[in-house]
Amino acid sequence: MIENAHTNALLICDVRKKIEALPDSLQRAWKNEPEALQIPVVAPGRDLLVLDKGKRSSTKKGFSSAEGQARLLHDLANIELQAMELCYRSYIEYPQAPQEFREQMADLALAESKHLELCLNQLELLGFKWGDWPVYLSLWKAVSVEDSLLDRLLIVHRYLEASGLDAGVSLLKKLAQAKAPGLEKVVRKITEEEVGHVAFGSYWYQKICKQQKLDPDQDFKNRMLNLSAQLPKRFEVIDFEIRKKAGFTDLEIQAAREIQSRF
Ligand SMILES: [Fe+2]
Ligand SMILES: [Fe+2]
Repeated sequence: MIENAHTNALLICDVRKKIEALPDSLQRAWKNEPEALQIPVVAPGRDLLVLDKGKRSSTKKGFSSAEGQARLLHDLANIELQAMELCYRSYIEYPQAPQEFREQMADLALAESKHLELCLNQLELLGFKWGDWPVYLSLWKAVSVEDSLLDRLLIVHRYLEASGLDAGVSLLKKLAQAKAPGLEKVVRKITEEEVGHVAFGSYWYQKICKQQKLDPDQDFKNRMLNLSAQLPKRFEVIDFEIRKKAGFTDLEIQAAREIQSRF
């Protein structure tokens, strides 16, 4: 495929060009231009080795070494890249969603592209680069064209991103000992901003449930149970405080813990 300035960001392989193309793709998707509405059939464009689920890449080093820090940044960049693409995907897959919702989703996609840039820049400062390790597509694969809007909100923002918040809290504790100020700054900024992304998911999930005359707490538990087979498993301790900040109710946190204990 020939990539040009107007290629849909999801299809572009080069990661920096993908970031650059995102604002234009979002604008063209808003105007319903067919190319901008295309979702890749198999996987979004990549410029590095993608491993299948289950295969393990090389052993990770500790955060005291530059390589260990770079490895973590590479993993984070992979998460941010998929988060950016998932926001774009939701943006084009739910054209009937409220305008305010779609505008916020476009802002989220752009915010994820900034997180991705932060990770790539810090990675390069350490003397490494994107593509030095292979990646997985497990976040992208957690969603499906069959998802209702409530399913998608739950999977992306209230499960994957919310688990990312729990991981951010525990990572920041580890990094406090590691003398890795550049990396710590990136993780802190991303974790702080991700609270807003999860809060976006909580707000719209609860609002749409009420519009559909569903009890949000009960629906959260049932939907999590129904979707749990398709979700990548997360074993990070669920952090009550940060989840509350991100709009989870006590009952939702309780349900998330119960479901996690069955994994
Ligand atoms: Fe992010
Ligand atoms: Fe996010």
